[in-house]
Amino acid sequence: MDAVAVIRAKRDRAELTDAQIDWVIDAYTRGEVADEQMAALAMAILLNGMTARETVRWTDAMIRSGERMDFSALPLPTTDKHSTGGVGDKITLPLAPLVAACGAAVPQLSGRGLGHTGGTLDKLESIPGWRARLGNAEMLEVLRTAGAVICAAGDGLAPADRKLYALRDVTGTVESIPLIASSIMSKKIAEGTGALVLDVKVGTGAFMTSLESARELARTMVELGRSAGVGTVALLTGMSTPLGLTAGNALEVRESVEVLAGGGPADVVELTLALAREMLAGAGVRGKDPETALKDGSAMDHWRRMIAAQGGDPDAPLPVARERQVVAAPATGVLTRLDAYAVGVAAWRLGAGRARKEDPVQAGAGVELHAKPGASVTAGQPLLTLHTDTPERFGYALDALADGIDIAPVGTGFTPPPLILDRLD
Ligand code: URA
Repeated sequence: MDAVAVIRAKRDRAELTDAQIDWVIDAYTRGEVADEQMAALAMAILLNGMTARETVRWTDAMIRSGERMDFSALPLPTTDKHSTGGVGDKITLPLAPLVAACGAAVPQLSGRGLGHTGGTLDKLESIPGWRARLGNAEMLEVLRTAGAVICAAGDGLAPADRKLYALRDVTGTVESIPLIASSIMSKKIAEGTGALVLDVKVGTGAFMTSLESARELARTMVELGRSAGVGTVALLTGMSTPLGLTAGNALEVRESVEVLAGGGPADVVELTLALAREMLAGAGVRGKDPETALKDGSAMDHWRRMIAAQGGDPDAPLPVARERQVVAAPATGVLTRLDAYAVGVAAWRLGAGRARKEDPVQAGAGVELHAKPGASVTAGQPLLTLHTDTPERFGYALDALADGIDIAPVGTGFTPPPLILDRLD
């Protein structure tokens, strides 16, 4: 088999054979196919697409490039959630212990943030002592004691994707639905969950800005899950304004703990409950209702156990940024837009996110929202608070926000769009 023949076949719109796909993924993982050859193939796929059969085989080959985890020794069914990423998306934090409190096990392998969306591990690392890296045996132990574990994916999980995703990032080949779907699903299937719920974000703060492209990505991923024997459903949810009232690592942990204590912003609670119900249904668990588990303290109890089992102190004060700056509403009226992308970039520039994989993040940095679209505001009232340890960043954050806020005159009819836009199974 040779790489040039595979590249030419896709360039000329031929359907790749199973043998070609298996060979190219394996040879690339071993270093026999060079980065420039894989980059050419990824570009040919981006331009000419892949059939459903090719996408299933591509995903399977990436899964087979590494280890597949096995939780069958656990006495509980496993279920997991994956979000395609958004601003203020802290849902995994309350969701994993909540689902555990309702009777399913949640093995959640998560990533770090890159660019304007935050990463679950960065958020949890703002809790003093908490460790993201666990061995397989340790991961199983946390699952046994807390019912849920959130940790970093080991190097052995879908190594072909690790290499290919980094290459796509620098060759303009991320935005291909078959490549995104196979990248996400190879990791989630290799993780060994029995059921999977996908939260596919749509809007200015998301990968997919149109409902149609988000639906196609969701449909492709649901099919990949089904082909691999993992019951998969997808919710399409809005991401044109941040989720909740915070974007930034420790700020989002604080808000997640509020949800676990039975409070928290209405949109975060709504999405957490909807995803929890889907995860439990996927796992076939008909235990405690998630709303009850938020109110009766059992979800909080699982959170505390999960954090402590990974070395964290659930009672330790969370880091707070050294400097704050309030952004006032520029006019009186109805807030009709508080753009997710603008807030995400502002939080990133304040130090909450990283531009390169190796950059550090500031635990306390981020943006706090004092109003959401649909609210009536008065000129001069606090609309946002910016948090950072490095005040020279305030100006850059304000630049990012400059075109992100719209206030319409008093009396303008405005109803914010629903959070949950569609469901696919
Ligand atoms: N997230 C992934 O894991 N892979 C992609 O290709 C895009 C987003």
